[in-house]
Amino acid sequence: MTPHHTPAPPAPTLTDNLGRTINYVRLAVTDRCNLNCRYCRPKGPCDEPRRELLSYEELERLTRLLVEMGVSKVRITGGEPLVRHGMLDFMRRLQAIDGLHQLALTTNATLLGPRLADLRALNLAGLNISLDTLRPERFAAITGQNLFADVFAVIEEAIFTGIPVKINAVVQEGINTDELLDLARLAADRPIQVRFIEPMPFDGGNSFVAGNWNLARLEQHFREHLPDVREAPTAGATARVLQAAGFKGSIGLIGGYSRCFCATCNKIRITPQGMLKTCLYDDGVLDLKEVLRSGSSDRELAEMIRACLGRRHADGFAAAEQRKKKGLPGSCASMATIGG
Ligand code: 5AD
Repeated sequence: MTPHHTPAPPAPTLTDNLGRTINYVRLAVTDRCNLNCRYCRPKGPCDEPRRELLSYEELERLTRLLVEMGVSKVRITGGEPLVRHGMLDFMRRLQAIDGLHQLALTTNATLLGPRLADLRALNLAGLNISLDTLRPERFAAITGQNLFADVFAVIEEAIFTGIPVKINAVVQEGINTDELLDLARLAADRPIQVRFIEPMPFDGGNSFVAGNWNLARLEQHFREHLPDVREAPTAGATARVLQAAGFKGSIGLIGGYSRCFCATCNKIRITPQGMLKTCLYDDGVLDLKEVLRSGSSDRELAEMIRACLGRRHADGFAAAEQRKKKGLPGSCASMATIGG
């Protein structure tokens, strides 16, 4: 018999009703956090009952299935992912999934220090760290914890060990808008991307105001004050990327409120309680926990997920509109319970 060589099957592609490829899932693994940033946390006690999280087994099953369906990138987010016990082991199990090419983590870095070596070994595709200020007293005022020095030291260490780091700074009018250039200049001599995020109305009812620092103003600010700023080409990325002359790293602008990247949005989200979201602004389109616990097969689950992608909103405005029609959002809509 002649040896028969079967070529590897082509990687599957997952697309939505508008032909957008979906290859990226954000898994929010907890809604708890050890910080209390006002733009993210619910104000006061949340009236929603504390519901059960998806177990690691359920999250792994979902991830495997989504990877079989065409997902190649997973970001672990929260809440603060590292407050959940066993997170590193879980991430190791995800990293072993065939076809999952990029595993990334978003964290506030307060619990990162002791786990840095393990994370290094995980070969993360990206480590995004939230940092809104370079002033210790402001850090304490924004987050409720006096941990700036620890966080900054661990960021430096992560960069030093070669993990690809991005910094996420939420632009907060009158709170950190006098520091935007200082934050951007972190990318002058470090190979990192410092990303400026428009505040979004997911602050748990803390009376959100959009403010005047939209994407256009941010860009103008950096062009005026940093050397020879050029836009770097980015195909279909969430961030617009600016490059200043002589900078080792770059500056990212994320119009989460302007919603200017919906046309190429390649991601879906799973909330800590197991709701599938096909848009940050929707209200959850499938209760995966219920489906998982009702004994559905992978095939049935895949069909339901595909059906949701078949009626995905065109953009975040349409999603928000529908939410409004339903009489939502409830006062507890917060980034911490969605997964940033
Ligand atoms: N608006 C914009 N960004 C937010 N984040 C959390 N809450 C908000 C909000 N209301 C950001 C955090 C985190 C990222 C995942 O989401 O900075 O880094």
